[in-house]
Amino acid sequence: MWAKIVCLVIGYGFGLFQTGYFYGKRNGIDIRKYGSGNAGTTNALRTLGKKAGAITLAGDCLKAILAILLVSLIFGRAFPEQIMLLKLYAGAGCVLGHNFPFYMNFKGGKGIAASVGMLIAFDWRLFFLCAVVFFTVFFLSHFVSLASLLAYFFFVVGVIASGQMGRYDVPASALHEMYIVAFLLMLLAFWRHRANIKRLATGTENKIEFGKK
Ligand code: G3P
Repeated sequence: MWAKIVCLVIGYGFGLFQTGYFYGKRNGIDIRKYGSGNAGTTNALRTLGKKAGAITLAGDCLKAILAILLVSLIFGRAFPEQIMLLKLYAGAGCVLGHNFPFYMNFKGGKGIAASVGMLIAFDWRLFFLCAVVFFTVFFLSHFVSLASLLAYFFFVVGVIASGQMGRYDVPASALHEMYIVAFLLMLLAFWRHRANIKRLATGTENKIEFGKK
């Protein structure tokens, strides 16, 4: 139990690094006062351009990767049979830190780029599955939110399918906990995107179209 809490706390600590917010501040703006009001990659791209979007994506991905690498270093030997679950806790902590940074009045991002980093470090095959879903939906619709949410759904499906296929070397109880953590992360992503979902339903969601400005 204590190891899970430590992983959540480590993840939360890394998640606090708000790349888009800091990049915006360096350029004299609070990114949360522009565009969708979100302190994430899409809004950095929308508000400050491609370079800002790329830097935000890289920084927010990297913090989840680093959190998971650190957790693997600390707990990999002591709890080899739990490490996949602990990695997921570190990733979840990072998403929480990103979404709810205490020093920004708990008003952060929506956790998609941090989740991408978590996926890369947690299970790179699932990362490729989700990337295919994301880019297919994005290129067909130009809605980052829709693509992100569908990719998240496939993340949960992928975790459950991989677990049932015996790809994660963890005891059954840890496996079920992994399914629950993945499911809760998906619920959180949907909840954080509730304004986007409303806009999608009413046909007013913002599109990202490269080439057009
Ligand atoms: O990364 C969050 C994305 O799914 C939506 O962002 O700024 O369009 O609300 P935004």
